Amino acid sequence: MSQQTTNGAAPSAPTGPRVARLILDGRELELPVVIGSEGETGLDIMQLRAKTGAITLDQGYGNTGACESSITFIDGERGILRYRGYPIEELAEKADFVEVCHLLIYGELPNAKELADFTSRLTRHTLLHEDMKKFFEGYPGGAHPMAMLSAMVASLSAYYSEDDELDLNIVRLLAKAITIAAFSYKKNIGQPFMYPRNELSYCANFLHMMHAVPAEPFTVNPVFARVLNLLLILHADHEQNCSTSTVRMVGSSQANLFASIAAGICALWGPLHGGANQAVIEMLETIRQDGSNYKKYVEMAKDKDSGFRLMGFGHRVYKNFDPRASILKKAAAEVLGQLGIQDPLLDIAKALEEVALHDEFFVSRKLYPNVDFYSGVIYRAMGIPTNMFTVMFALGRLPGWIAHWREMRDDPKTRINRPRQIYTGATERAYKPVSER
Ligand SMILES: CC(C)(COP(=O)(O)OP(=O)(O)OC[C@H]1O[C@@H](n2cnc3c(N)ncnc32)[C@H](O)[C@@H]1OP(=O)(O)O)[C@@H](O)C(=O)NCCC(=O)NCCS
Repeated sequence: MSQQTTNGAAPSAPTGPRVARLILDGRELELPVVIGSEGETGLDIMQLRAKTGAITLDQGYGNTGACESSITFIDGERGILRYRGYPIEELAEKADFVEVCHLLIYGELPNAKELADFTSRLTRHTLLHEDMKKFFEGYPGGAHPMAMLSAMVASLSAYYSEDDELDLNIVRLLAKAITIAAFSYKKNIGQPFMYPRNELSYCANFLHMMHAVPAEPFTVNPVFARVLNLLLILHADHEQNCSTSTVRMVGSSQANLFASIAAGICALWGPLHGGANQAVIEMLETIRQDGSNYKKYVEMAKDKDSGFRLMGFGHRVYKNFDPRASILKKAAAEVLGQLGIQDPLLDIAKALEEVALHDEFFVSRKLYPNVDFYSGVIYRAMGIPTNMFTVMFALGRLPGWIAHWREMRDDPKTRINRPRQIYTGATERAYKPVSER
């Protein structure tokens, strides 16, 4: 099988319709070339199987575009991340998470009236149906909060109909997620649930529900609210990652919004995805208890037989630096400085990064710290327990998942997602009765 593009022009300056030619068993197929708004090139293989009988094989989908999307642009080589065209650095510095939710889901930053409206709706939908509170009682103490979050989000579909206006269900999901997340923490530590307070911002409201108790007044630390806003913005979308693809996959069967997002939450849970922030802190803690001998762990990560990886290092897409990690490294130092906290784990993280960035193994494989490397250190400083870190990631990623679900649903080209396979099992054989086996 051979493949070539007919012209070598730079994607930014196409001279006419481009096609790729694929020759299989002497038969040639022209594959239309699709160019994205940032010059990304894709080969449209929609006719491949019908015309040749062959499929593509791309384990882990590293070369497969599953959709066209106008939500988020990433250039992994240049360390670029933009939501709807806005650079992540600018949003991280200037925006409010609620604005970013509006931007991702509806395509534009809200004007003053839209923002006031959206904020007010998000505030007024934070209460859970009282019956849902009883669900928490059934969980054993110490249940992972991601188990509760995914189940509660799926359960929202038992309370809110698909026939309700979609915008209302979107607001319900964003608003109730912070309450569910905080309740899952309170359940674990055996404290009474704190109800949401409408005078607080989205981030402050969550922190209040997490850390306040009914016995005394509680003021949210504004540094915490600000840094949480930053963290949620940095996590808000990342195009076709594992959990977002899961949301689109489940949604492609026309499953409802809550069910599709619950599936995304489960996909996020794994340590190779959103669970990495928890794994990073656990790794740093292990190193600390081992006399802070970080060099030993760098060596272990290089030894394939050890089965050990440096958590928070490496990324399928970013091959130079993760722009979110750069922002968070700075934020971690600032926040800990402002709070006067000395965290030995931050020192270990910096030392580990320094060694790995100059080590041939990591340099040649383009392994750099990713977003999860520093986020855990900040969450720790905010008093968020380790098993809640992935929940925090999920809260941030909600608007991205919703935006993709909505885009998928509104795209007339959407078909149920159903990959093919190359079968490698036994060929046909006859059934033998058990007495002959
Ligand atoms: C993110 C991740 C899953 C990307 O995986 P991927 O694109 O499939 O890359 P691969 O697993 O094929 O890794 C490529 C090479 O780098 C090595 N590598 C990747 N990440 C590594 C890490 N964190 N520590 C040590 N080696 C690593 C692999 O062993 C492989 O080496 P090889 O080419 O000699 O076989 C992977 O880098 C990883 O497991 N990182 C740690 C978990 C993490 O932080 N996840 C959060 C992502 S935001």
